[in-house]
Amino acid sequence: MYTQAMSVGPQDVAAQTKSAEEAAREAAFEARIDAGDFIEAKDWMPEHYRKTLVRQISQHAHSEIVGMLPEGNWITRAPTLKRKAILLAKVQDEGGHGLYLYSAAETLGTSRDQMLAALHSGKAKYSSIFNYPTLTWADIGVVGWLVDGAAIMNQVPLCRCSFAPYARAMIRVCREESFHQRQGYESLLVMMREGTAEQKAMVQDAVNRWWWPSLMMFGPADKDSPNSEQSMRWGIKRISNDDLRQKFVDATIPQAEVLGITVPDPDLKWNAQTEHYDFGAIDWAEFWRVVGGDGPCNRERLATRVKAWDEGAWVREAALAHARKHMNKEQVA
Ligand SMILES: [Fe+2]
Ligand SMILES: [Fe+2]
Repeated sequence: MYTQAMSVGPQDVAAQTKSAEEAAREAAFEARIDAGDFIEAKDWMPEHYRKTLVRQISQHAHSEIVGMLPEGNWITRAPTLKRKAILLAKVQDEGGHGLYLYSAAETLGTSRDQMLAALHSGKAKYSSIFNYPTLTWADIGVVGWLVDGAAIMNQVPLCRCSFAPYARAMIRVCREESFHQRQGYESLLVMMREGTAEQKAMVQDAVNRWWWPSLMMFGPADKDSPNSEQSMRWGIKRISNDDLRQKFVDATIPQAEVLGITVPDPDLKWNAQTEHYDFGAIDWAEFWRVVGGDGPCNRERLATRVKAWDEGAWVREAALAHARKHMNKEQVA
């Protein structure tokens, strides 16, 4: 009681003044967002905006590097030198995307070590799509076509994200994703046009396994995605999950027809009234199970990342020692 009385003093006045100042800053920030301005790392931003971005960009970075694993699995088994060179380049691109994105997230004041510790402890998420296995060579084509295709749909609007370092990173990432999608589609076209009956069946089987997880890449339905609204208001997210998913289905079905494959959805049909494809219900129980850590490869992916981190300790130490030596030399000079 006394403490309550005592706490009404200059400190509280200061707190109130500060909160009025804070409110003015927030209003100025919101006005910049509404005007379509880009926010730079050095600019003032609400703590919640910063946290949302660190979470989103670091999850995106984790997805890029974990995404190297299912495809890396096929580098040594690519059927020709040409396919091997393409796959190597693609997997390297994904590593590069991870690095740009970690750098963009670091500008918000969270270190790479902190982000990686969150990934390795299982606290941070990455895209659940990478918790599915790549069982045959056709999976590599289908991952390029559908998974990179869905990634492009998701990421093109991020080139206009209100946080400038993220938006800038996404421009280059999207150009490379477009090559990833096309190489996947082209490799499937070759299998479907020139392949044996067995190879064609392999493509269809891969599509059957990857179709629904690809649709899940757009996240929960809008009605179950409470954070989306705030992200849309802040210009971090420009198009809703359901709208992006619909765009993806509309763009992909004509490509499936050219390939000569079907998608495993008996409810899929063109709706002349809406001028969109109607499609069947997504198994959200599976989605949440995989997000929650119980997908086919969650444990394997995390264990592989942790092992790579541990075994790479000597590289990090050597790089730091080299940088220190270099710095000392410069100081002496
Ligand atoms: Fe990527
Ligand atoms: Fe990609």
